[in-house]
Parts: sequence; C-alpha cells; structure tokens
Amino acid sequence: MKYKAVRGMRDLLPEDTGLWALVEGVIKNNLQRFGYREIRIPLLETTELFARSVGTDTDLVGKEMYSFNDHSDESLTLRPEGTAGCARAAIERNLLQQPVRLWYQGPMFRYERPQKGRYRQFEQIGVEAFGWHGPDIDVEILEMGWRIWQALGLTDKVKLELNTLGSADVRKRYRDSLTAYFSEHLATLDEHSKRRLKTNPLRILDSKAPAIKELCEQAPRLIDALDDPSASHFAVIGDELDALGIPFEVNPRLVRGLDYYSHTVFEWTTDALGAQNAICSGGRYDSLVELLGGRPTPAIGLAFGIDRVVLLAADHVDNIATANAAQQIDFYVLPLTDAEHTAAIQLAANLRIAMSNAHILCHAGSGKVKVRMKAADRSGAGHALLLGADEVANGIVTLKFLRDDSAQEQVPIANIADRLSMIWHQSKTG
Ligand code: HAM
Repeated sequence: MKYKAVRGMRDLLPEDTGLWALVEGVIKNNLQRFGYREIRIPLLETTELFARSVGTDTDLVGKEMYSFNDHSDESLTLRPEGTAGCARAAIERNLLQQPVRLWYQGPMFRYERPQKGRYRQFEQIGVEAFGWHGPDIDVEILEMGWRIWQALGLTDKVKLELNTLGSADVRKRYRDSLTAYFSEHLATLDEHSKRRLKTNPLRILDSKAPAIKELCEQAPRLIDALDDPSASHFAVIGDELDALGIPFEVNPRLVRGLDYYSHTVFEWTTDALGAQNAICSGGRYDSLVELLGGRPTPAIGLAFGIDRVVLLAADHVDNIATANAAQQIDFYVLPLTDAEHTAAIQLAANLRIAMSNAHILCHAGSGKVKVRMKAADRSGAGHALLLGADEVANGIVTLKFLRDDSAQEQVPIANIADRLSMIWHQSKTG
C-alpha cells in the first residue's frame, strides 16, 4: 500500500466512534451540568506562547512540539495542550472581567514515542476556571471528575493522586534545598538529571530511572516545607473531598511536566493501561495569565485524555453495547428493482419525519434482489421494508423480520409508520 497514516496518528473507524461519542457525551454533559461553557480555540498558536507558558526546559517544549515556519516566516506550533491557548484567548477576548468557567475539546499533538495509550495526535477534553482564588473551585473541579467516572462506571478503575506545589516563594525555597540535596549525590545522577539540577531540580523528582527514584525517596519533601496559606488551602481540599466521599491519595512526589503549575496538582491514574497510567490531570496555574500579559488572575483546570478513557471504558461491555446501539440501523427500505427507487426514497423520507429517533437506511445501488437482500442483512437492521411492483401498485409495504422467524406482514402504506413505531418502542424497552 502506498500511503500510510503518519506514525502515532490513528484513524478511528465507525466501529470505534460509537464508544468515543458515548464517552465524550458523558463528559460534556457533566461539564455543562456544572456550569462550564464551551470555547473553541485554534489548533495553531505561535511557538512563543507554548515556550512561555509550558516552559522551555520541559520535555513538551524542548522535544515534543510540532513546530514550523509559515510563509511569513512566523514560527507556529500545533498545540501540544489546551491551557496556553485557552488563557491566551481569555485574555485577548476580554473574558476575565469576572470569573469564568470554560471547556474545550480537540486534538493535541506531541512528538512522543507511540505506544498503547500514547499517540502523537490525541484527544483531550479540557476545563479551565479563571478568577477564583479559594480551594472551593479546586474541589468543584475534582468533584466533577469523580462524577464523570461515576457516570462512566469507572470509579473502581481510577485513583485520584493529589499534591500541592505551594506558592512561588515556597517553591523557590524548596528548589534551593533540593539543589543542595542532589548536589551531595551528584555521583548517582545521570546526565539528564544533572542538567535538570541546573535548570529545574523539581523535574528530577519525575525521573523514572530506578537509582534516581530511590534517591528521590530520601529527598526533602515540598509538602513539609509549605507556608501556612498553602497548607490550609490544601487541607480544605482534603476535608471537602472527604465530606463528599471522594477517595484520594496524597502523593508528595507528583510534580507534573508543565512549568505553569502552582499549589494544587493532581492526576487520575489507573492500573489498567500499563505505562500510560494518567487518564486525566491538571492543577492550579495562578501566575500564567499575568505571565502572558493579562491582569493577575488565579486559575485551575484539568484535561481528560480521551484516547485513554476510551481504552478503559472499552473493557465495560455495557458501555460498548450502549455505544453500538446508538449507531444501530433500525429499518432498511428496500426497492426490489430500480423501478421502485422513487417510491423507496419517498417512504424513507416520510418515515424519518414520522419517527424522528429511528435510524432508517434506504438501499443505494442497483443489482438483483438477492444482492439487495444481502445488503439489508449486512446493514444490521432488524427489519426490511420491501417495495416491489405489486407493493407499489397496491399501496402496501412488505415488512420482513431479518433477525427472527416471524412471518412477514403486508402493511398498508398509511399504517406503516404506526406499525414500525410499535416495533421500535418494543425493541427499545426490551
Ligand atoms: P497533561 O497531563 O500533559 O496536562 O495531559 C492531560 C492528559 O492528556 C493526560 O492525563 C493524558 O491522559 C493525556 N495525554 C497526554 N499525552 C498524551 C499522549 N501522547 N497520548 C494520549 N494521551 C495523552 C495538560 O495537557 C494540561 N493542559 C492539563 C490542564 C488543564 N492543566 C490545567 N488545565
């Protein structure tokens, strides 16, 4: 075959998209019920926006961006995440006069090594709340995540890991003590970590190398160095999650890979997907709006990795059955020869008006009756509506049951919508 999809970028086929639509629908419905409103932002932004927001020292900006110069030699980047663009839009379009709750959906692009659950084009649904200082909004966003896992039937598959990075001052002091600690253990550090020791020692805590992980176990913990306001902000979140009955674990090693975070950070993780265990993550980024030229505005958000949520949801037979049902064809209108084609499209059109929720397919293509019947069967429809010369002459339809042995019926055209509605309701109510 000549052309192939670009590595790490996937086609989702019709048999996949039903479950995707179901998962996306559940998430969006819940976001809207919590008062979040949709914003649509471009896939391309200036490279500078991501460098500024996410940080030049991160893997994301340093190694993973799809950047290119356009015809006017401006450096643009396919968005690797949505927070920077959303903050840019909120500032540019003057949305920050009062607090605002936003959500967005779409593809993100990262040049990572592809594997199960990790792709170079992947889908996020993200949420950003601008303008609230207090822990109440942190709790709201965490609760919203939990309600979504409940609605998807996934609560026993996910775990909420929570940490705080404290204020900028706290982090600065902590950075100094980490630098001192790792400097005493230079021999254990690999080259990568040594570089990070100079640029951002907190990121060493993210290392996957066993020796460094071990070293990190003994490192000073930021959570022990919090100032009072940071500590009490974090304590309220824990108390309120307890009050709502939402389980969580404090993970003092959770640092996240993007530089804009401060205070609360979190990840919903799962054991079910191997190495790619984060399915939804986020945190506070109180300085980003100001960094991008807006007036100081606290903010917090999260993003669901939809590819991963779908992988997880696919293990649930209930979800798949419901998703497939949403794409199921109910009735197949079948002209027996080309001569009945006009009658067939008229019948299909009338039925689509009479039964607004039913899925009605009208046969396309010529061929013998046998070929047409095969197509009806392959469509998955439960019933075929046969229109031959006799049917058209007598104003009737032959209703054929494709999935059981019921005898076929001759139904007057005037009654067909009522008869099919009865069948349709019976099939939906079991
Ligand atoms: P992130 O942790 O980089 O955060 O990505 C969020 C989620 O996207 C991850 O938890 C994961 O499920 C999914 N994800 C990331 N990379 C890939 C990939 N290569 N393939 C498949 N899924 C992936 C952010 O992007 C922040 N903007 C989230 C945020 C919003 N923070 C505040 N507001």
